[in-house]
Amino acid sequence: MNEQQGGEQSGPLPRHVAIIMDGNGRWARARGRARHRGHRAGAEAARAAVEVCAEQGVEALTLFAFSSENWRRPDREIRTLMALFRRALEREGQRIHDNNIRLRVIGQRDQFPVRLQQSMAAAEALTVGNNGLQLTVAAGYGGRWDIRQATQRVARLVALGQMSPDAVDETTLQSHLCLADLPEPDLFVRTGGEQRVSNFLLWQLAYTELYFTDTLWPDFGHEECREAIRWFGQRRRRFGQTTEQLGQAAGYSHA
Ligand code: FPP
Repeated sequence: MNEQQGGEQSGPLPRHVAIIMDGNGRWARARGRARHRGHRAGAEAARAAVEVCAEQGVEALTLFAFSSENWRRPDREIRTLMALFRRALEREGQRIHDNNIRLRVIGQRDQFPVRLQQSMAAAEALTVGNNGLQLTVAAGYGGRWDIRQATQRVARLVALGQMSPDAVDETTLQSHLCLADLPEPDLFVRTGGEQRVSNFLLWQLAYTELYFTDTLWPDFGHEECREAIRWFGQRRRRFGQTTEQLGQAAGYSHA
């Protein structure tokens, strides 16, 4: 178990933080600005979350940048977001690499413009050998899609006779999901006031601590990110066991 370094807080550090970055549009509207200004400010907040997780020694950070449902937004907003993602990948890729961060993108990326797909692939290739923070951007992602694609892969193994249907268990399915090589998220954060999981990592969030805040994403800066991590440190995770079984020791285990 990692313990937090420094600061007044104590208790376990989340190994994996997953965030729904909500509230960009409302942040912009409150300032009389166009929605794309909110997304631009949101990109700055994403950078702050990456910096805090890297600074604290969190192993993995997963950001929900674009859901499979976000394709229903107006064309103009989608085009703006695509341009913003590409610029962020191209501008931040080297900085991410210099900080030993590995970047990956999960989701139905073949739905994105080809140039954006190329930027995703280039940033992944540049950072593939890095063993610091494992940064995942979920784009065109949906939790139900993830479970479906894992199920299809297992079904193919069964159809090829490489696996018996009776041998399919939770571990089999889990190993074919996106993020199978990472610990499941310990801490889920959603900004913007809604208290929903919105088809994010449905399987992977089974035992995750959920942190909701009214703060709009562009206002979720370094200090509030640290606050969410401190909040996690105070949680007591039981994983189905009783408090008595767990004894006095606060904390958790993935075992
Ligand atoms: C939700 O706010 C936000 C999005 C759909 C886009 C998220 C994108 C970013 C934070 C920018 C860049 C990110 C990376 C990783 C480079 P909303 O538009 O639904 O806000 P609203 O609920 O107030 O309308």
